[in-house]
Amino acid sequence: MKFKDKIALVTGATSGIGKKVATSLLEAGAKVAVNYHSEDSKRDETARDLRTLLTVAGRPTSDLLMVKADVSSPKETASMFKQVEDRLGPLDLLVNNAGIQSECPSHELDPDRIKLELAVNLMGPILCCRSALQAFLKNRSPQGCIVNISSVHEDVPKPGFLPYSVSKGGLRNLTRTLALEYADRNIRINAIAPGAVYTKMNPQLKDKQTREETKDQIPTRTIIDPAEIARCVLFLASDESKNLTGQTIRIDGGLSLYPSFQENWTS
Ligand SMILES: NC(=O)c1ccc[n+]([C@@H]2O[C@H](COP(=O)([O-])OP(=O)(O)OC[C@H]3O[C@@H](n4cnc5c(N)ncnc54)[C@H](OP(=O)(O)O)[C@@H]3O)[C@@H](O)[C@H]2O)c1
Repeated sequence: MKFKDKIALVTGATSGIGKKVATSLLEAGAKVAVNYHSEDSKRDETARDLRTLLTVAGRPTSDLLMVKADVSSPKETASMFKQVEDRLGPLDLLVNNAGIQSECPSHELDPDRIKLELAVNLMGPILCCRSALQAFLKNRSPQGCIVNISSVHEDVPKPGFLPYSVSKGGLRNLTRTLALEYADRNIRINAIAPGAVYTKMNPQLKDKQTREETKDQIPTRTIIDPAEIARCVLFLASDESKNLTGQTIRIDGGLSLYPSFQENWTS
Protein backbone atom coordinates (compact mmCIF):
# COMPACT_ATOMS: atom_id res chain seq x y z
CA MET A 1 0.00 0.00 0.00
CA LYS A 2 1.52 3.20 -1.30
CA PHE A 3 0.47 5.39 1.64
CA LYS A 4 1.06 2.89 4.45
CA ASP A 5 1.78 4.73 7.71
CA LYS A 6 1.35 8.14 6.07
CA ILE A 7 -0.78 10.55 8.04
CA ALA A 8 -3.31 12.73 6.25
CA LEU A 9 -5.87 15.35 7.23
CA VAL A 10 -8.76 16.16 4.88
CA THR A 11 -10.98 19.14 5.70
CA GLY A 12 -14.73 19.13 5.06
CA ALA A 13 -14.57 15.38 4.50
CA THR A 14 -18.00 14.05 5.39
CA SER A 15 -19.48 14.66 1.96
CA GLY A 16 -18.71 15.00 -1.74
CA ILE A 17 -15.11 15.33 -2.88
CA GLY A 18 -13.63 15.36 0.65
CA LYS A 19 -15.28 12.09 1.63
CA LYS A 20 -14.03 10.40 -1.55
CA VAL A 21 -10.50 11.73 -0.98
CA ALA A 22 -10.49 10.50 2.63
CA THR A 23 -11.81 7.09 1.53
CA SER A 24 -9.16 6.74 -1.19
CA LEU A 25 -6.35 7.69 1.19
CA LEU A 26 -7.55 5.13 3.74
CA GLU A 27 -7.79 2.49 1.01
CA ALA A 28 -4.21 3.33 0.00
CA GLY A 29 -3.03 2.59 3.55
CA ALA A 30 -2.88 6.05 5.12
CA LYS A 31 -4.08 6.95 8.59
CA VAL A 32 -6.68 9.64 7.99
CA ALA A 33 -8.12 12.49 10.02
CA VAL A 34 -11.55 13.41 8.69
CA ASN A 35 -12.45 16.98 9.58
CA TYR A 36 -16.15 17.70 9.91
CA HIS A 37 -18.10 20.85 10.58
CA SER A 38 -21.70 19.84 11.30
CA GLU A 39 -22.70 17.24 13.85
CA ASP A 40 -25.18 15.56 11.53
CA SER A 41 -26.04 12.28 9.83
CA LYS A 42 -23.24 12.82 7.26
CA ARG A 43 -20.71 12.74 10.08
CA ASP A 44 -22.15 9.50 11.50
CA GLU A 45 -22.48 7.88 8.09
CA THR A 46 -18.90 8.78 7.13
CA ALA A 47 -17.50 7.43 10.40
CA ARG A 48 -19.48 4.21 9.94
CA ASP A 49 -18.46 3.74 6.28
CA LEU A 50 -14.77 4.38 6.94
CA ARG A 51 -14.61 2.20 10.07
CA THR A 52 -16.20 -0.63 8.08
CA LEU A 53 -13.60 -0.15 5.35
CA LEU A 54 -10.80 -0.48 7.93
CA THR A 55 -12.34 -3.51 9.63
CA VAL A 56 -12.81 -5.33 6.32
CA ALA A 57 -9.15 -4.60 5.52
CA GLY A 58 -8.12 -6.03 8.91
CA ARG A 59 -6.86 -2.68 10.13
CA PRO A 60 -7.50 -0.96 13.47
CA THR A 61 -10.30 1.62 13.51
CA SER A 62 -7.83 3.90 15.30
CA ASP A 63 -6.37 4.57 11.81
CA LEU A 64 -9.35 6.90 11.43
CA LEU A 65 -9.82 10.08 13.44
CA MET A 66 -13.03 12.09 13.15
CA VAL A 67 -12.14 15.64 14.17
CA LYS A 68 -14.57 18.52 14.50
CA ALA A 69 -13.45 22.04 13.59
CA ASP A 70 -14.65 25.12 11.81
CA VAL A 71 -11.69 25.71 9.50
CA SER A 72 -12.18 29.46 9.69
CA SER A 73 -11.52 29.48 13.44
CA PRO A 74 -7.85 29.89 14.47
CA LYS A 75 -8.56 28.23 17.83
CA GLU A 76 -10.42 25.26 16.39
CA THR A 77 -7.89 24.61 13.60
CA ALA A 78 -4.98 24.73 16.06
CA SER A 79 -6.79 22.26 18.29
CA MET A 80 -7.56 20.04 15.28
CA PHE A 81 -3.89 19.79 14.28
CA LYS A 82 -2.92 19.01 17.87
CA GLN A 83 -5.47 16.20 18.02
CA VAL A 84 -4.16 14.79 14.73
CA GLU A 85 -0.59 14.74 16.02
CA ASP A 86 -1.55 13.33 19.44
CA ARG A 87 -3.83 10.62 18.08
CA LEU A 88 -2.31 9.68 14.69
CA GLY A 89 1.26 11.03 14.71
CA PRO A 90 3.28 13.56 12.65
CA LEU A 91 1.34 14.88 9.66
CA ASP A 92 2.44 14.07 6.08
CA LEU A 93 -0.44 15.44 4.01
CA LEU A 94 -3.05 18.18 4.31
CA VAL A 95 -5.94 18.37 1.85
CA ASN A 96 -7.73 21.73 2.08
CA ASN A 97 -11.13 20.74 0.74
CA ALA A 98 -13.78 22.49 2.88
CA GLY A 99 -15.65 25.13 0.92
CA ILE A 100 -18.96 26.93 0.55
CA GLN A 101 -20.64 29.06 -2.10
CA SER A 102 -23.85 30.97 -2.63
CA GLU A 103 -25.36 32.97 -5.45
CA CYS A 104 -26.16 36.67 -5.16
CA PRO A 105 -25.82 39.69 -7.47
CA SER A 106 -22.58 41.37 -6.40
CA HIS A 107 -24.22 44.74 -5.70
CA GLU A 108 -26.62 43.09 -3.22
CA LEU A 109 -24.05 41.09 -1.28
CA ASP A 110 -24.44 41.02 2.47
CA PRO A 111 -21.09 41.89 4.15
CA ASP A 112 -21.52 39.00 6.60
CA ARG A 113 -21.91 36.55 3.73
CA ILE A 114 -18.77 37.94 2.04
CA LYS A 115 -16.89 37.53 5.31
CA LEU A 116 -18.12 33.98 5.81
CA GLU A 117 -17.18 32.72 2.34
CA LEU A 118 -13.75 34.33 2.47
CA ALA A 119 -13.28 32.95 5.99
CA VAL A 120 -14.12 29.34 5.08
CA ASN A 121 -12.66 29.22 1.56
CA LEU A 122 -9.52 31.31 2.03
CA MET A 123 -8.74 32.07 5.68
CA GLY A 124 -9.44 28.39 6.46
CA PRO A 125 -6.80 27.07 4.02
CA ILE A 126 -4.33 29.75 5.17
CA LEU A 127 -4.78 28.73 8.82
CA CYS A 128 -4.59 25.02 7.98
CA CYS A 129 -1.49 25.52 5.79
CA ARG A 130 0.13 27.44 8.63
CA SER A 131 -0.48 24.63 11.11
CA ALA A 132 0.53 21.94 8.61
CA LEU A 133 3.78 23.76 7.82
CA GLN A 134 4.56 24.02 11.54
CA ALA A 135 3.99 20.27 11.81
CA PHE A 136 6.16 19.48 8.75
CA LEU A 137 8.99 21.72 9.97
CA LYS A 138 9.12 20.07 13.39
CA ASN A 139 10.80 17.15 11.70
CA ARG A 140 14.64 17.21 11.69
CA SER A 141 14.44 16.47 7.95
CA PRO A 142 11.21 18.23 7.00
CA GLN A 143 8.87 16.84 4.38
CA GLY A 144 5.22 17.26 3.60
CA CYS A 145 2.56 17.86 1.04
CA ILE A 146 -0.46 20.13 0.76
CA VAL A 147 -3.20 19.81 -1.85
CA ASN A 148 -5.72 22.64 -2.12
CA ILE A 149 -9.08 21.88 -3.69
CA SER A 150 -9.64 25.02 -5.68
CA SER A 151 -11.97 25.50 -8.67
CA VAL A 152 -11.85 26.48 -12.33
CA HIS A 153 -13.19 29.74 -10.90
CA GLU A 154 -9.75 30.52 -9.50
CA ASP A 155 -9.28 31.83 -13.07
CA VAL A 156 -12.64 31.76 -14.81
CA PRO A 157 -14.87 34.62 -13.58
CA LYS A 158 -18.12 33.52 -11.98
CA PRO A 159 -20.62 36.39 -11.98
CA GLY A 160 -23.11 36.15 -9.13
CA PHE A 161 -20.59 34.22 -7.00
CA LEU A 162 -18.08 36.97 -6.22
CA PRO A 163 -16.80 35.85 -2.78
CA TYR A 164 -16.41 32.27 -4.06
CA SER A 165 -14.50 33.34 -7.19
CA VAL A 166 -12.31 35.74 -5.23
CA SER A 167 -11.54 33.13 -2.56
CA LYS A 168 -10.50 30.55 -5.16
CA GLY A 169 -8.35 33.17 -6.90
CA GLY A 170 -6.68 33.75 -3.54
CA LEU A 171 -6.18 30.01 -3.14
CA ARG A 172 -4.24 29.98 -6.41
CA ASN A 173 -1.88 32.63 -5.07
CA LEU A 174 -1.61 30.81 -1.74
CA THR A 175 -0.60 27.63 -3.57
CA ARG A 176 2.08 29.36 -5.63
CA THR A 177 3.46 31.55 -2.83
CA LEU A 178 3.83 28.71 -0.34
CA ALA A 179 5.25 26.39 -3.00
CA LEU A 180 8.05 28.87 -3.62
CA GLU A 181 8.60 29.67 0.05
CA TYR A 182 9.03 26.03 1.12
CA ALA A 183 10.39 24.39 -2.06
CA ASP A 184 13.88 24.06 -0.53
CA ARG A 185 12.51 22.20 2.50
CA ASN A 186 11.00 19.18 0.78
CA ILE A 187 7.48 20.58 1.15
CA ARG A 188 5.24 20.70 -1.91
CA ILE A 189 2.00 22.62 -2.33
CA ASN A 190 -0.30 22.02 -5.31
CA ALA A 191 -3.95 22.50 -6.17
CA ILE A 192 -6.69 20.80 -8.11
CA ALA A 193 -9.28 22.91 -9.92
CA PRO A 194 -12.40 20.87 -10.59
CA GLY A 195 -15.05 21.86 -13.09
CA ALA A 196 -18.60 20.67 -12.44
CA VAL A 197 -18.65 17.82 -9.92
CA TYR A 198 -21.83 16.11 -8.84
CA THR A 199 -21.97 16.84 -5.05
CA LYS A 200 -24.28 18.59 -2.61
CA MET A 201 -22.65 21.87 -3.63
CA ASN A 202 -24.41 21.38 -6.96
CA PRO A 203 -27.88 20.13 -5.93
CA GLN A 204 -29.33 21.37 -9.23
CA LEU A 205 -27.45 18.53 -10.99
CA LYS A 206 -29.92 16.07 -9.47
CA ASP A 207 -32.31 17.22 -12.14
CA LYS A 208 -31.77 15.22 -15.35
CA GLN A 209 -32.49 18.11 -17.69
CA THR A 210 -30.11 20.46 -15.83
CA ARG A 211 -27.46 17.74 -15.92
CA GLU A 212 -27.82 17.44 -19.70
CA GLU A 213 -27.72 21.24 -20.11
CA THR A 214 -24.58 21.38 -17.94
CA LYS A 215 -22.93 18.66 -20.02
CA ASP A 216 -23.63 20.75 -23.12
CA GLN A 217 -21.36 23.45 -21.66
CA ILE A 218 -18.48 21.00 -21.14
CA PRO A 219 -16.32 20.04 -24.13
CA THR A 220 -15.99 16.37 -23.04
CA ARG A 221 -19.74 16.24 -22.22
CA THR A 222 -19.06 14.79 -18.75
CA ILE A 223 -19.75 15.76 -15.16
CA ILE A 224 -16.66 15.08 -13.05
CA ASP A 225 -16.71 12.13 -10.65
CA PRO A 226 -15.20 12.87 -7.17
CA ALA A 227 -13.12 9.68 -7.66
CA GLU A 228 -11.15 11.49 -10.40
CA ILE A 229 -10.27 14.26 -7.97
CA ALA A 230 -9.28 11.70 -5.34
CA ARG A 231 -6.95 9.89 -7.77
CA CYS A 232 -5.26 13.19 -8.57
CA VAL A 233 -4.81 13.99 -4.85
CA LEU A 234 -3.06 10.63 -4.41
CA PHE A 235 -0.80 11.39 -7.37
CA LEU A 236 0.05 14.86 -6.03
CA ALA A 237 0.77 13.42 -2.58
CA SER A 238 3.03 10.66 -3.89
CA ASP A 239 6.69 10.59 -4.92
CA GLU A 240 5.54 10.16 -8.52
CA SER A 241 5.04 13.93 -8.52
CA LYS A 242 8.07 14.78 -6.41
CA ASN A 243 9.13 17.74 -8.56
CA LEU A 244 5.63 19.09 -9.06
CA THR A 245 4.94 22.11 -6.90
CA GLY A 246 3.00 25.37 -7.14
CA GLN A 247 0.74 23.95 -9.85
CA THR A 248 -2.99 23.78 -10.31
CA ILE A 249 -4.27 20.76 -12.19
CA ARG A 250 -7.62 21.41 -13.83
CA ILE A 251 -9.98 18.46 -13.91
CA ASP A 252 -12.82 20.05 -15.80
CA GLY A 253 -13.49 18.22 -19.07
CA GLY A 254 -12.12 21.26 -20.89
CA LEU A 255 -14.55 23.69 -19.25
CA SER A 256 -11.83 26.31 -18.82
CA LEU A 257 -10.74 26.12 -22.48
CA TYR A 258 -13.21 28.76 -23.73
CA PRO A 259 -15.73 26.14 -24.98
CA SER A 260 -17.48 28.70 -27.16
CA PHE A 261 -14.43 28.47 -29.45
CA GLN A 262 -15.03 24.75 -30.02
CA GLU A 263 -16.86 25.74 -33.16
CA ASN A 264 -15.41 28.48 -35.28
CA TRP A 265 -17.46 31.65 -34.98
CA THR A 266 -14.65 34.05 -35.74
CA SER A 267 -14.15 35.56 -39.16
N1 LIG B 1 -18.88 20.42 -6.66
C1 LIG B 1 -18.25 21.12 -7.59
O1 LIG B 1 -18.71 21.22 -8.73
C2 LIG B 1 -16.95 21.81 -7.27
C3 LIG B 1 -16.28 22.43 -8.33
C4 LIG B 1 -15.09 23.08 -8.07
C5 LIG B 1 -14.56 23.10 -6.80
N2 LIG B 1 -15.22 22.47 -5.79
C6 LIG B 1 -14.62 22.55 -4.45
O2 LIG B 1 -14.54 21.27 -3.88
C7 LIG B 1 -14.56 21.38 -2.46
C8 LIG B 1 -15.54 20.37 -1.90
O3 LIG B 1 -16.85 20.68 -2.31
P1 LIG B 1 -17.95 19.57 -2.67
O4 LIG B 1 -18.36 19.81 -4.06
O5 LIG B 1 -17.50 18.22 -2.28
O6 LIG B 1 -19.18 20.10 -1.79
P2 LIG B 1 -19.72 19.64 -0.36
O7 LIG B 1 -20.16 18.22 -0.41
O8 LIG B 1 -20.70 20.68 0.01
O9 LIG B 1 -18.43 19.70 0.58
C9 LIG B 1 -18.02 20.85 1.26
C10 LIG B 1 -17.61 20.44 2.66
O10 LIG B 1 -17.07 21.57 3.34
C11 LIG B 1 -17.53 21.51 4.69
N3 LIG B 1 -17.48 22.80 5.35
C12 LIG B 1 -18.23 23.90 5.11
N4 LIG B 1 -17.91 24.88 5.96
C13 LIG B 1 -16.94 24.39 6.76
C14 LIG B 1 -16.21 24.94 7.84
N5 LIG B 1 -16.39 26.20 8.27
N6 LIG B 1 -15.28 24.15 8.44
C15 LIG B 1 -15.06 22.88 8.03
N7 LIG B 1 -15.74 22.32 7.00
C16 LIG B 1 -16.66 23.07 6.39
C17 LIG B 1 -18.96 21.01 4.56
O11 LIG B 1 -19.40 20.51 5.82
P3 LIG B 1 -20.87 20.86 6.38
O12 LIG B 1 -21.82 20.44 5.29
O13 LIG B 1 -20.95 20.07 7.62
O14 LIG B 1 -20.88 22.35 6.61
C18 LIG B 1 -18.80 19.94 3.49
O15 LIG B 1 -18.49 18.69 4.06
C19 LIG B 1 -14.93 22.84 -2.15
O16 LIG B 1 -13.77 23.56 -1.78
C20 LIG B 1 -15.45 23.35 -3.48
O17 LIG B 1 -15.26 24.74 -3.64
C21 LIG B 1 -16.42 21.83 -5.99
